[in-house]
Amino acid sequence: MRFAGRHVLVTGGSSGIGRATCERLAAEGARVAVLSRDGAAAGDVAQRIGGIAIPADLAEETAIQDAAARIAKEWGTLDFLVSNAATMTFTPILETEAADFDRVIAVNLRAPFLLLRYLGGMIRRGGAVVHVSSVHAAATTANVAPYAASKGGLEALTRAASIEFTPRGVRVNAVAPGAVETPMLRANPNIASGVEKLEGPVGRPEQIAAAICFLLSEEAGFATGAVLSVDGGRLAAL
Ligand SMILES: NC(=O)c1ccc[n+]([C@@H]2O[C@H](COP(=O)([O-])OP(=O)(O)OC[C@H]3O[C@@H](n4cnc5c(N)ncnc54)[C@H](O)[C@@H]3O)[C@@H](O)[C@H]2O)c1
Repeated sequence: MRFAGRHVLVTGGSSGIGRATCERLAAEGARVAVLSRDGAAAGDVAQRIGGIAIPADLAEETAIQDAAARIAKEWGTLDFLVSNAATMTFTPILETEAADFDRVIAVNLRAPFLLLRYLGGMIRRGGAVVHVSSVHAAATTANVAPYAASKGGLEALTRAASIEFTPRGVRVNAVAPGAVETPMLRANPNIASGVEKLEGPVGRPEQIAAAICFLLSEEAGFATGAVLSVDGGRLAAL
């Protein structure tokens, strides 16, 4: 039981990689706060694993402040934070509205920043943060520029935060998944159209959850500011 008695907040915890992470953490003894825009789905996951549900739209700063206040009230402190929620758009740059770019950046990059801003001070010494990035931070396709930019920024944020949180005894790392079998993958029209090719193996959410839990655990006690690729070798291929 690597996480017995530890408190963790997982964003986007109601489906896909986030849900698998909530389940794995709970199975290893953690008390989990499941944050999602989909409050009903978050409630289902929370009920199943004996955690708490926090419905919130991460594009709203006030929703993140409210989530921090809820954690402070429920638990007082936090041990782990997993910033996993993300959103995508599928339009060429020449047809992308500023508002759409802003929403992707708000959910995928500003929210992880604001979660550190409002919850970081509550994370106890020995705690850790994991950001869920993507192979798109390193290599991408047409029509997903805001998403690719948000993930590149998230990896830079990971490094910057690791420096500021090291004196507090809190590690900050990222996981960069390749294609994983989740609703987000199947909702991606670039996959359906063949703009993004799925040539290698497709991962399971549990495989990404395992990497996230490794980075949260003591076994990764010397890792901070790192990005762990978990992509079935996708980025290694020419
Ligand atoms: N599935 C893949 O192939 C893949 C590949 C690389 C990276 N990722 C990353 O993995 C993470 C999880 O994605 P997934 O594939 O499990 O997708 P998913 O669609 O199953 O889960 C995304 C979650 O984020 C939540 N969410 C989205 N917008 C939100 C908002 N504004 N406020 C609050 N919650 C919001 C959704 O409710 C959902 O719970 C994302 O960061 C994604 O970029 C996924």
